[in-house]
Amino acid sequence: MNFSAIIAGTMKWGIWGARFNTAAYEQMIKDCLSLGVTTFDHADIYGDYTTEAEFGEVLNSEPSLRSAMQIITKCGIQKVSPNRPEHKIKSYDTSYDHIMQSVENSLNNLSTDYIDCLLIHRPDPLFNADEVAKAFTHLKEQGKVLHFGVSNFKRWQVDLLHSRFTVEVNQVECSLLHLESFLDGTLDYCQQHHITPMAWSPLGAGNLFVETDDERIQRISAVAGILAEKYNTSADVILYSWILTHPSGIHPVTGTTKPERIRLATEAINIQLEREDWFMLWRASTGKEVA
Ligand SMILES: NC(=O)c1ccc[n+]([C@@H]2O[C@H](COP(=O)([O-])OP(=O)(O)OC[C@H]3O[C@@H](n4cnc5c(N)ncnc54)[C@H](OP(=O)(O)O)[C@@H]3O)[C@@H](O)[C@H]2O)c1
Repeated sequence: MNFSAIIAGTMKWGIWGARFNTAAYEQMIKDCLSLGVTTFDHADIYGDYTTEAEFGEVLNSEPSLRSAMQIITKCGIQKVSPNRPEHKIKSYDTSYDHIMQSVENSLNNLSTDYIDCLLIHRPDPLFNADEVAKAFTHLKEQGKVLHFGVSNFKRWQVDLLHSRFTVEVNQVECSLLHLESFLDGTLDYCQQHHITPMAWSPLGAGNLFVETDDERIQRISAVAGILAEKYNTSADVILYSWILTHPSGIHPVTGTTKPERIRLATEAINIQLEREDWFMLWRASTGKEVA
């Protein structure tokens, strides 16, 4: 797998955020590629099932862009949406038929004949590991999906699927506002089994930048500011480098819709935080010294 160190998340590119038109999608894709951010993170549901197709319009008109990028997409969440009138409640579906159908939809929407990496979006209480493994095996044999993984799975949930089919990615919420993956064995399991971790909402969905009375956010911002001066960079860069410094090899999935902020994210690749600086941010987040 050749994911870029920073991954461009597309969740807010369409109607769930910036409402890019086709020209803006094209510009953003090209800006990312020129910055070395070659991996794009999608899900079938983004933009209420519309963002993949909007992105795919660019690939349809410029097919040569496809070989310069890697596409991740996800399946398994069934949203209630005018675009899916058959869904009566929000639910999960990780059945063989749903996975196969969702991949067909994504291939059509994205105007591509292969997906680089398919993730099961959320753990499903009705998860049948044999059935998921069968779908993954067939998709791999058909050349429609090259790599497979999961998202938001706990260690034991990855372990179940990994016992049937090689899991290569676990994409989890991970930032200074969400430390669970550091504490509950998720990242240890990734390191142990050479699974690539990806961090969604690496900047806490933007909450680390809002004016707030929240003392935790104030502490993190203050330390990020001090370290930004020390490393001669900006607070965003420090927040990304805090994630990139972890030895499990986490790929931040950035959600920004601004090319300049994508560029800042890539600056972080060259910064290795000193241990004590990493722990200053950890302490700012937890509010206490380590034991
Ligand atoms: N697997 C999952 O279950 C899951 C769940 C959620 C998301 N994701 C993926 O993760 C990606 C990232 O999620 P996210 O959007 O929550 O990530 P994020 O990068 O933590 O947050 C992005 C938000 O922060 C804002 N922001 C960034 N830098 C800023 C700054 N310096 N000052 C003020 N605001 C700033 C952005 O606004 P601007 O656009 O204005 O820069 C944007 O609204 C998504 O696109 C999606 O691909 C996956």
